[in-house]
Amino acid sequence: MAKTTNVNAGDLNYDKYADKIYDDDIRRSIPGHDKLHKEIINTFREYEKHHEVMKILELGIGTGLTSEKILELIPTASLTAVDFSEQMMSGAKKRLAKFNVEYLLGDYSEMNFDTDFDMVVSVIGIHHQKDEGKKLLFSKIFDSLKTGGVFIFGDLVTYKDKHKAAVNDSRHYHHLVENARDEKSLEEWAHHHKFLNLLAPLEDQTAWLKVVGFSNVEVRYEYLNTALIVATK
Ligand SMILES: C[S@@+](CC[C@H](N)C(=O)[O-])C[C@H]1O[C@@H](n2cnc3c(N)ncnc32)[C@H](O)[C@@H]1O
Repeated sequence: MAKTTNVNAGDLNYDKYADKIYDDDIRRSIPGHDKLHKEIINTFREYEKHHEVMKILELGIGTGLTSEKILELIPTASLTAVDFSEQMMSGAKKRLAKFNVEYLLGDYSEMNFDTDFDMVVSVIGIHHQKDEGKKLLFSKIFDSLKTGGVFIFGDLVTYKDKHKAAVNDSRHYHHLVENARDEKSLEEWAHHHKFLNLLAPLEDQTAWLKVVGFSNVEVRYEYLNTALIVATK
């Protein structure tokens, strides 16, 4: 089957500096990154009230920024963490040393997962899948969850409404100009957004999640191109 990921780890600007300045850079570069994470944690708290979260799969762990917040909340959980960047993963290994984490190095679109996860999390990564890859991955995520399990999916998206899509994209670039660490960083993140990100409309992605079988698909956060979708099996 043709490759569905549009980049290799080494094509991504943060692959070379990962744990040194990644956290600061990603927060500067993704509009609403902090609020997105607040909403993820709120979702976790709500879910945890009704279920005992034991087994979590994270696709694209990066330096462990998202997972640290989750594991601080549920330190007894076991996390399976996937990333294709050795550099990013080495940041996560240092940061999450005290937690129960299994690390899998590789492209998640080419992997098979266990089928007994309570939760699958992916934040700011699936936009490197072509549309076909997104649909296939959603289906694999559905299969990897227990009944009642939840997929917490934060990402950059676009919109079917072309006016909204164009305005949001302009504001995304404006955000980069206003917040980039320096000129070099602006150049790298603007290049990343313009040439490497494959954003799919939010409306399509929620529909694809329903098609693969998720019974409840809710958009919990939207700010410019940043969105949080919570899908329950
Ligand atoms: C931008 S980071 C996000 C980290 C963190 N969740 C955050 O919000 O800052 C996304 C990670 O996904 C990884 N990634 C992207 N596509 C991937 C793929 N197909 N397979 C494995 N890892 C992937 C990248 O290497 C990167 O470390």
